Amino acid sequence: MSDSPFPQGFLWGGALAANQSEGGYLEGGKGLTTVDMLPHGEHRMPVKLGLEKRFTLRDDEFYPSHQAIDFYHHYKEDIALMAEMGFTVFRTSIAWSRLYPQGDEQTPNEQGIAFYRDVFRECRKHGIEPLVTLCHFDVPMHLVTEYGSWRNRRMVEFFTRYARTCFEAFDGLVKYWLTFNEINILLASPFSGAGLVFEEGENRDQVKYQATHHELIASALATRIAHQVNSENQVGCMLAGGNFYPWSCKPEDVWAALEKDRENLFFIDVQARGAYPSYSARVFREKGVSIVMEPGDTEILKNTVDFVSFSYYASRCASAEMNEHNSSAANVVKSLSNPHVQRSDWGWGIDPLGLRITMNMMYDRYQKPLFLVENGLGAKDEFNENGEIKDDYRISYLRDHIRAMGEAIEDGIPVMGYTSWGCIDLVAASTGEMSKRYGFVYVDRDDQGNGTLARTRKKSFWWYKKVIASNGRDLD
Ligand code: BG6
Repeated sequence: MSDSPFPQGFLWGGALAANQSEGGYLEGGKGLTTVDMLPHGEHRMPVKLGLEKRFTLRDDEFYPSHQAIDFYHHYKEDIALMAEMGFTVFRTSIAWSRLYPQGDEQTPNEQGIAFYRDVFRECRKHGIEPLVTLCHFDVPMHLVTEYGSWRNRRMVEFFTRYARTCFEAFDGLVKYWLTFNEINILLASPFSGAGLVFEEGENRDQVKYQATHHELIASALATRIAHQVNSENQVGCMLAGGNFYPWSCKPEDVWAALEKDRENLFFIDVQARGAYPSYSARVFREKGVSIVMEPGDTEILKNTVDFVSFSYYASRCASAEMNEHNSSAANVVKSLSNPHVQRSDWGWGIDPLGLRITMNMMYDRYQKPLFLVENGLGAKDEFNENGEIKDDYRISYLRDHIRAMGEAIEDGIPVMGYTSWGCIDLVAASTGEMSKRYGFVYVDRDDQGNGTLARTRKKSFWWYKKVIASNGRDLD
């Protein structure tokens, strides 16, 4: 056992999101949301990408989010399991449509507030700090059908009202907030990321970047409101992270990788530095994008975040010759397949050193504390003859990444904490599968929605408990 690079008070825990765990999709006055429209099966991708319009549910399809793992009714049991592992932080999101079922109401749904108050109280009872995302891949459907979602500036008003409600209603219970989960995913997955659906023939880049501008304004305003409501509040942005490596040292490949990185980092450049980056004007010109701004917007954007959070599953790779045919998506961002890294069963690269590289790049660029709020291995789990799940593959992935994060801390980077993704199995965002599992806790449910929802501790449960108890010293 070596010395721990993790500082005292480092937050250890795990992450879920309302849209993939809660279920109870119409309970407690909740309204329909974008994720509720995503079926399991072949139509999922076209709907997620905003290419196939789905504004009503179909009888012949299965929608995994409707019940998910039923965290809505199991949260006490689930939080107790987290406490048993020694979590000091639990990341989840609030379903916007539980608080504002339509999204454009003037006053919130009290039942929704009561539910989250109970969840956060339950966390506090166990000494767990909630880390709460305001918008994790769900937009109330009414805002999509009536307003066109984030393509419409009015979303800023709706979102900031919702955000203020959260800051006020959960004041004293929650102090760590994230505005938009993986904000850059809006580019790759516009409907699930931001409720965008495209019309025939329109310039999609124009729609996406205008929607981005609205989200960036909403995020900056929410940050300001959070600080006004309570100066102790800390607000972070959230990037779907993972640096692009150049395919070769050919200058054109290096340039391609830099451009791809900028595509993702653009969002964080604005949220963490408070202004559009210098390179954006040319990018927009070349894409035929012209952002409509309102007077005062540049001032609003100066409300920067307190910390930079990110997900990391894999690094990425780009070349000048990259195209639709030679690249594929891991976590929806297209990448070439790097022959120097191993791959998960879902084809996602496994690259712990890439995490250290990504963290160093981000700290060099932003000089703000980092928070790794998603990381993990999606894998198939099988029970052995003794009824146990020996998920050594998951332990090995997590161990290597925690070690890499420790190296980044030794490199001089302030890191606030670590929440591994899907600490309790949940529905996969990309495929809608349950069989792509991330958890320390197994949930009895299959891809078609069958199962008792019973929770079972996996081998990694006991391993992670030891990691936390030793503050990251004991990774064996
Ligand atoms: C991130 C998301 O993109 O990756 C999560 O923030 C998602 O919502 C996670 O679940 C893993 O992706 P997937 O598709 O395996 O669930």
